[in-house]
Amino acid sequence: MPQRPSEPEDLARWGAVDRYFGTLLGDSDAALDAGLRAAEAAGLPSIQVSPLQGKLLHLLARACRARRILEVGTLGGYSTTWMARALPPEGRLLTLELEPRHAEVARANLVRAGVSDRVEIRLGPASDSLAALLREAVPPFDMVFIDADKAGYPGYLEASVRLSRPGTLLVADNVVRRGDVVEAGSSDPSVLGVRRMAEVIAADPRLLATVVQTVGVKGYDGLAVAIVL
Ligand code: SAH
Ligand code: DHB
Ligand code: MG
Repeated sequence: MPQRPSEPEDLARWGAVDRYFGTLLGDSDAALDAGLRAAEAAGLPSIQVSPLQGKLLHLLARACRARRILEVGTLGGYSTTWMARALPPEGRLLTLELEPRHAEVARANLVRAGVSDRVEIRLGPASDSLAALLREAVPPFDMVFIDADKAGYPGYLEASVRLSRPGTLLVADNVVRRGDVVEAGSSDPSVLGVRRMAEVIAADPRLLATVVQTVGVKGYDGLAVAIVL
């Protein structure tokens, strides 16, 4: 049997490297740390992006000069905070969340981080919120971060493309899942959702896409990154 990745010794090393670069380059501050503690105290699952991944989202938002950002899956507002901080004062971030309790924790964390004036949380199933945004014909988003239930990814991706303009940056989290994504015969709805989303991306000539495999404090996973042509 080949050794599976994400064994404890790998994780220790990947975590040490995350902490080395995080400390050197800056990957946290009092508001972000307090937000993580509040989420933990409220019993939310600790499945937010890693600190350096949060910073990557921030850099991507700045690189594409995003003024309107859409996020699917808020949790405690950790990735939300990183991206909202990349917005100019008149910029807006809309984040979609199913669980009222998560949204409540996120709201307090966004206030603490000083970005609540730029962020709106919409409660409910993301598929419903996305359908409403399409009906409302809202202006296109400059960046979209997809990070909710993986079974929903194909639909979230399709709606995101329709809410985009040429040049919009699309990012989806957790597309590798310790490598499980290559298991074509998997019955795991998350694996099936990610694979189906990848097929949707591949079949859409308007999308130019890649995948970055990642290791770090969260183990082995990856991000899909695409632009709308
Ligand atoms: N982006 C966050 C982590 C999100 S975790 C961060 O990195 O900080 C995934 C979130 O998606 C959870 O809060 C979960 O409640 C939410 N979620 C799950 N299914 C959903 C659905 N159908 N619609 C909207 N949100 C959903
Ligand atoms: C899970 C969800 C995530 O968005 C993530 O980054 C890690 C784990 C999960 O549902 O287990
Ligand atoms: Mg995720």
